[in-house]
Amino acid sequence: MQVRSMLEGDAERAFSIESAVTQFPWSLQQYRSSVVADDSFVLEQAGKIVGFIIFKRVLDETNLLNIVIDKQYQGQGLGRYLLEFGLVNQRSHGVKNCFLEVRRSNVSAQKLYQLLNFIIIGVRKNYYPLAQGKEDAIVMSTEISNKLVEKIYDGIIDASC
Ligand SMILES: CC(C)(COP(=O)(O)OP(=O)(O)OC[C@H]1O[C@@H](n2cnc3c(N)ncnc32)[C@H](O)[C@@H]1OP(=O)(O)O)[C@@H](O)C(=O)NCCC(=O)NCCS
Repeated sequence: MQVRSMLEGDAERAFSIESAVTQFPWSLQQYRSSVVADDSFVLEQAGKIVGFIIFKRVLDETNLLNIVIDKQYQGQGLGRYLLEFGLVNQRSHGVKNCFLEVRRSNVSAQKLYQLLNFIIIGVRKNYYPLAQGKEDAIVMSTEISNKLVEKIYDGIIDASC
């Protein structure tokens, strides 16, 4: 298992992974832009990309824009691994706090975030599209504190790429 920076050639794979798990994926162009503008990483197993994570970092704050694990590889701890890697990476750039938005109905993602000390700090009403109507976004944040980093796997040491 290896985490590396997302490259332009990975955009189509990222788009395909997300398209299989959500009705409203990012566009291919959004992925291509993220490769240039954001801190984006892919998780590989046996040379195959099985997930990715994307942060937008501004000074000492970061926003988790997206995290997706290939449907076939979910439920094996990979999402947690990638999020832990990402938080340690962002801290290595001087980030103190991480923010995110998640669909109210996305309970599995919210549980993952809670494991990494994210708490709910607000709600954006009717933020996300649905097939019919709109859905609220839950806004969460975590301080990337020493305590949190201590909680993160000892195995994730080189998160500075
Ligand atoms: C959210 C997501 C990234 C989690 O990745 P994953 O590899 O399946 O998650 P993990 O196996 O690392 O699980 C970590 C924790 O998340 C929670 N979790 C994951 N899947 C869950 C499920 N189906 N039901 C409830 N909790 C779940 C659990 O708390 C789990 O910890 P536990 O196994 O100790 O109980 C993945 O489900 C995904 O890609 N979902 C679609 C895209 C998405 O919603 N992204 C978030 C956008 S805000």
